[in-house]
Amino acid sequence: MKKNNISIIILAAGKGSRMKSNKAKVLHEISGKPMLYHIIKASQEISDDITVVIAHQKEAVQATMESYFDNINFVVQDADNYPGTGGAMKNVHPKNNKVLVLNGDMPLITADALKGFLEIDADIIMSIFDLEDPSGYGRVVIQDNHVQYIVEQKDANEAELNVTTVNAGIYAFSKEVIEKYIPLLSNDNAQEEYYLTDVIAMAKKDGLTIVPLLVDEEHFKGVNSKKDLAESEEIMQDRIRTKWMQAGVIMQLPSTIYIEESVVFEGECIVENGCRITGESKIVNSHIKAHSVVEDSVMINSDCGPMAHLRPLSHITDTHIGNFVETKKSTLHGVKAGHLSYIGDAEVDEGTNIGAGTITCNYDGINKYKTLIGKNVFIGSDTQLVAPVTIEDDVMIAAGSTVTSGTIKSGNLAISRVKLRLIKDFYYKFFSKK
Ligand code: UD1
Ligand code: MG
Repeated sequence: MKKNNISIIILAAGKGSRMKSNKAKVLHEISGKPMLYHIIKASQEISDDITVVIAHQKEAVQATMESYFDNINFVVQDADNYPGTGGAMKNVHPKNNKVLVLNGDMPLITADALKGFLEIDADIIMSIFDLEDPSGYGRVVIQDNHVQYIVEQKDANEAELNVTTVNAGIYAFSKEVIEKYIPLLSNDNAQEEYYLTDVIAMAKKDGLTIVPLLVDEEHFKGVNSKKDLAESEEIMQDRIRTKWMQAGVIMQLPSTIYIEESVVFEGECIVENGCRITGESKIVNSHIKAHSVVEDSVMINSDCGPMAHLRPLSHITDTHIGNFVETKKSTLHGVKAGHLSYIGDAEVDEGTNIGAGTITCNYDGINKYKTLIGKNVFIGSDTQLVAPVTIEDDVMIAAGSTVTSGTIKSGNLAISRVKLRLIKDFYYKFFSKK
């Protein structure tokens, strides 16, 4: 999308007390990324001049956003003296004449959904939608087809509370409107806050043009509580899944699958029900079977699950990972690990078979150590590989072995077993059955 001559201001300074959390509201995550991240990402598609207003936990909010984006301006709100969305606008200095103001708690917004604000020419464009249950939102009072004012729920009388047209929380102002009306706001209201929404009534009185833009909740939903967060997550997940299904991924019972926004699929992939795929995972021509979890991992021409767990930095190619297998920070190429294993800090090469119950003992309580396994190795079931350990190509490890020596040379069999003892009729004596 072409960048427009528009400045964007995102209000992200509020406490978010209704979230009942020590974490700043705008840092709560949707599909693996903070809410504010999604808003800045959409904003960047249409503007080069983005300002985020911060105050509550300002260091954390700024540092988190700077880890994702360059070129964002941060302005600190004097929230002690000027609390509220109007107070948040006091120190902003947008470059352009047209200024889009977005609440920082609207993670579902997209650049496309903001298009309407760019196309209309008016002193103020404000977003509205109609809701059966408008609770929580500011009500928009419209008479004779003209917006008169916005009243916050806490300040509304009974008639106003029954209004179902609500303020969605995005506005386009001309710079002059901001410069003129923000200094005139008062905090004479139920919350003793400076409301940005009061600009509407003042501008109306002065005869300015105020255009209401009808938008949909699917893009403009505000998140004030953990319930709103969960509802927004469902909408975002639906979007992410739809995008990947359109790109060719098969999903079985998609509504049970969770995929973070940074995950990438390529080629022909199948994701079965109940899977969770997170972080920077990249899935290429692979099949993730039911109830598996894949975190920050790469799968190429491979399958995993059901109920497999690929933990961060697993990199598997041409590999079969079966049920109840956990991998972590390991590279497996052309490997079969069919059942019940832990493979951590390991490199495993082509043609190798990892028997059921194999464990890489990678941690001694202080440090982590590597397990290197070569080509065509046969690891029998219930083997413990006490790292650091190297198994060269063409090695056989007998079932039930504990491998502690540093290197097992090519061609060898490693076997460590207690010799089997047979005690005649012990069972019958023990249970006094005879
Ligand atoms: C606001 C609107 C309401 C609208 C709703 C849409 C006001 C007064 N009310 O209410 O009409 O229906 O959004 O979602 O604007 N913020 C600051 N500094 C502050 C207070 C808030 O930057 O001092 C930021 C918050 O971080 C948040 C945004 O402004 O991102 C909106 O604040 P919030 O408290 O969520 O306002 P709502 O009650 O949802
Ligand atoms: Mg809100």
